[in-house]
Amino acid sequence: MKVEQCLVLIKPDGLVKSLTGDIISKLSETQLVIVGAKIVQVTRELAEEHYQHLREEKFFDELIRYIMGEFHTKRVLALAYQGEDATAKIRKIVGATNPELAEPISIRGKYGRVTTRGVFENVVHASESPKEAERELKLWFRPDELVNTIFPTQLKKVAIEKLFWK
Ligand code: CDP
Ligand code: MG
Repeated sequence: MKVEQCLVLIKPDGLVKSLTGDIISKLSETQLVIVGAKIVQVTRELAEEHYQHLREEKFFDELIRYIMGEFHTKRVLALAYQGEDATAKIRKIVGATNPELAEPISIRGKYGRVTTRGVFENVVHASESPKEAERELKLWFRPDELVNTIFPTQLKKVAIEKLFWK
């Protein structure tokens, strides 16, 4: 048993279907800890980087439009989980990629669908391995958005433009 991290995304279809509560409740059965959470408007850059391993797939463009929220709402809820065997525990509850083949009582089996355009609208994303989790969490969260520093950090002095409230 090893402490791992796992990125969970409640995808735009999950938000539109009001599944946030159900999904978080179901995942709480794992007794893992949420160490970060935020609503994100997914840019094309973030979407393409997140799904870079699928770049050659014929469904890639549709997938990018899906995760950017073009078919539902332009929001995703990003959650960072931490605990023993986090990826395996979460992936089991999430279910198989294809919602038609996923266990009926898994999240994807219950709530996912295959669209007529051939995309698996499967409601949630979950990192496949601790290595992928690290790559994904560093992509979706800044260090100060997670409650404990789960990966090594460095302090840098930078001059940047930042958005403030008027
Ligand atoms: O999300 P998961 O790790 O289970 O599967 P993936 O192979 O990393 O694919 C990422 C996402 O692409 C899936 O969750 C589906 O939304 C979508 N996908 C699809 O629409 N059609 C496929 N044949 C495979 C994946
Ligand atoms: Mg994957």
